[in-house]
Amino acid sequence: MQALGVDIGGSGIKGAIVENGKLVSERIRIPTPSPSTPTAVADVVATIARRLDYRGPIGCGFPAVIQHGVARTAANIDAGWIDCNVETVIQQATDCPVIVINDADAAGLAEVQFGAAQDPNGVMMMVTIGTGLGSALFRDGVLFPNTELGHLMLNNIKAEHYASGAVRKREGLSWKEWGARFNEVLELYERLFWPDLFILGGGDCKKLHKFEPCLKVRADVRAATLENQAGIIGAATAAIRHRTQK
Ligand code: BGC
Repeated sequence: MQALGVDIGGSGIKGAIVENGKLVSERIRIPTPSPSTPTAVADVVATIARRLDYRGPIGCGFPAVIQHGVARTAANIDAGWIDCNVETVIQQATDCPVIVINDADAAGLAEVQFGAAQDPNGVMMMVTIGTGLGSALFRDGVLFPNTELGHLMLNNIKAEHYASGAVRKREGLSWKEWGARFNEVLELYERLFWPDLFILGGGDCKKLHKFEPCLKVRADVRAATLENQAGIIGAATAAIRHRTQK
């Protein structure tokens, strides 16, 4: 079974058709519209579906708390999304059945099923590095959704305002400087959750070798093996699961 996976981020909206954990179409990336209102974002998802000539189930990873399809927060996306049913809005724009989950939860699901965390035993925490810091927590392969750890306070500032990928670029930090900050974030997460394994996602995870020497946590740290496709694959996988479990 196939689904269109869409990863809605603060700076780009990426989509591809996925089957068995693999991209089976070209990957399309369209910059996130500004302002990133519900109508504007839903139109971009519809454009991606159209450009891929796709009709069928769509899974979206969305950068906010998602409860039963409804966005409850909007840190890096237009505030107009708060309390909006994301599934309904995208369904109306695409005329396809839609499932929406948090973007980091989607990336984590992909790594658990197809990537770097396929051993289901223990506690695994996915941390996505991008416009914000996303988190996804798994115990024995089962997701505890919407953990939102990028909003934990560290040195009187939210973790994602201290050590996200966007902060590294905006402040022109070297990998060493940023790595030291990111290590503080992981150490905080470790003190609270004691994961056996951290998996790092987002575009910057390809640069793990540059900041790995800064990381002092006890847990293993690995880059997402699905790299920046994890969000797309996880979102599509959630849509496929939803349909096959019905
Ligand atoms: C949002 C999370 C999201 C993360 C990564 C944070 O600002 O609150 O929901 O997972 O950014 O996009």
